[in-house]
This record gives sequence, structure tokens and C-alpha cells, in this order.
Amino acid sequence: MKNIAIIGATGMLGAPVAKQLLVDGYNVRVLSRNPQKARQTLGEKFQYAKADIFDVHSLKAALHDIDAVHLNLSGQSKKTYYANHVVGTQNVVEALRDQPDTLISMISNASAYPEFSSRWDNRYKWEGEQILKQSGHPYLAFLPSWFLESIPLFIQKDNLVQIGASKREIPWIAAADYAKEVSKAYQDSKCRNQRLTIYGPHALPMRAVLEKYAQQHDLALKSMPAWLANLLSWVIRDESLRDITDLLTHYEKHGEKRGAHSICTQTNVDQWILESSISATQ
Ligand SMILES: NC(=O)c1ccc[n+]([C@@H]2O[C@H](COP(=O)([O-])OP(=O)(O)OC[C@H]3O[C@@H](n4cnc5c(N)ncnc54)[C@H](OP(=O)(O)O)[C@@H]3O)[C@@H](O)[C@H]2O)c1
Repeated sequence: MKNIAIIGATGMLGAPVAKQLLVDGYNVRVLSRNPQKARQTLGEKFQYAKADIFDVHSLKAALHDIDAVHLNLSGQSKKTYYANHVVGTQNVVEALRDQPDTLISMISNASAYPEFSSRWDNRYKWEGEQILKQSGHPYLAFLPSWFLESIPLFIQKDNLVQIGASKREIPWIAAADYAKEVSKAYQDSKCRNQRLTIYGPHALPMRAVLEKYAQQHDLALKSMPAWLANLLSWVIRDESLRDITDLLTHYEKHGEKRGAHSICTQTNVDQWILESSISATQ
């Protein structure tokens, strides 16, 4: 296997995977709705192709000579989770109809199980995986826990804002470690048709991690009850805030699971926070 395409390589969790695969010797093609912008972000070492998951022709053209494709898609609402994970996955399978040996992998999450499907994200990630399973293609689904890279998303001006109770322990994972595990799975030809849970070595509640991050980055730590964040999301019409509030509330209640194939990564919370402050000063 030599040629890998990534849909969503410009995303927060697609970029580290694209970079790791490049380091590990693969030719990596970035499929983006805006390849010029993607090139500005990711640089000259990648191939670029214009493609949209809702346009099967564009996918077909961009994937015609590819050995594997990794899907790094997200969403913010019932509609967008369904569109990206279910319709998008169907379209990728359709575009690869004449290339049945092409490996298809996707980022899912460690809560993507039918019993947690009261949250749309989990439900449609699970359905996306079923489409891959039934496609006959070799497939991989990566089920990471929470990424430490999400923490800066809670910064509002000079404040770090904790939404909801968030007392449940989370086995935080660093995106660079996740990317290494994706690449390792690609390199191991026996590792196919599996769901791989990926989690970090240090389980801490959200509050404890936010306290550490706030201290390291000189931010004030504030709290906002989930009901207020939800109300605010409606007032300011912010789907992302509504979705993250729902995610936090759901996770607090239900948590996540470790499947049959689970991988513990290396970077712990303190190391990652220290590295994040070093890279912020560079
Ligand atoms: N944050 C966490 O802690 C965590 C934990 C577990 C799992 N996850 C999952 O990780 C996934 C990826 O998250 P992320 O933060 O990397 O997402 P992101 O930053 O929002 O990136 C989404 C990517 O999707 C691409 N995209 C969107 N619509 C497209 C379309 N119509 N056609 C082609 N490409 C399209 C975008 O590429 P272009 O704009 O270049 O086209 C972008 O690169 C999510 O599903 C999330 O649930 C996150």
C-alpha cells in the first residue's frame, strides 16, 4: 500500500494523521472542497485534489488510483452528522465501487455504540461504520477517547470555560499519538476489519485538566452550567456550542466503552500541557 487519500485532512484531527502518514513514507493525497486553502495550511509535500463528499463524481476522480482512504469528518447537528457520516460514507463506497480492495478507514469515537445512540453523533458514526462493514471493502474504524487538542476550544477571551459538571474521568489522548496508531494500523496488513479503541494513559475529569491548562497558560477558569450554555446557544444561534454542551452532558451521563481491540497511548496530560505551552511560545 502506497497511496492514501484523506478526506478531512485540513481538520483538527485529520492534519496530524496526514502528516504522520507522510513521515511514514506514504504518498498522501488531500481531498478538500478548497484545495488551494488546504495547500496553504498543509504545505507542498502533499498531493491535492478537489472533492466533496456529496459529489460522487469528484470523489471518483480523486480516488481512482488510491489504495486507501481515511475519512476524518465531523458534524454539529443531527442533520450534519447524518449527512457527513451516513450519506458521505455511502458516497465514498459508491465512488470506489470498481476498486473493491481499497481500504476505507474512518474516525469514530469511543462512545459510538448503539446503546449510546441517543446522541446523534454516536448513532450516525455507528451507522457509517455499518456501511463500511457491509461494503465488502477492507475497513478500519478508529474509536478515540477525548483529545487534549479540544481543550483550547474552551477558551473565551482570557477565560477557560468549563461547561456543565464534567466530573467523569476521561482517558485523554494526544492527537500526535492517535495519528501514530492510525499509521501503525495501516502498516499492519493483519489489522483490518476492526474497531480500534484508542485512549490515553492518564484518566482525569475535565475540571482537573482545565485547571492544569489554565494555570500553564495564565487563563482564568470559569464555569457555566449546561442549561445556561444550551440556552445561550439558542440565543446566539451557535450550533457548535449547542453540540458541545450536548456532548458533555451525554458523556457525563453515559461515558464511553473499551472494545475488544484497545490501544493505550503514551503522552500523558502533564506532558501534553507542557508541550502546548512550549509550542505557544515558539
Ligand atoms: N475532539 C475530540 O475530542 C474527538 C474525540 C473523538 C472523536 N472525534 C471525532 O473526530 C472527528 C473529526 O474531528 P475534527 O475536529 O478533525 O473535524 P474538523 O476540524 O471539523 O474537520 C472536518 C473536516 O471535514 C472536511 N469536510 C467537511 N465537509 C466536507 C465535504 N462536504 N466534503 C469533503 N470534506 C469535507 C473539512 O475539509 P475541507 O474544509 O478542506 O473540505 C475538514 O477538514 C469528528 O467526527 C469528531 O467527532 C473528536
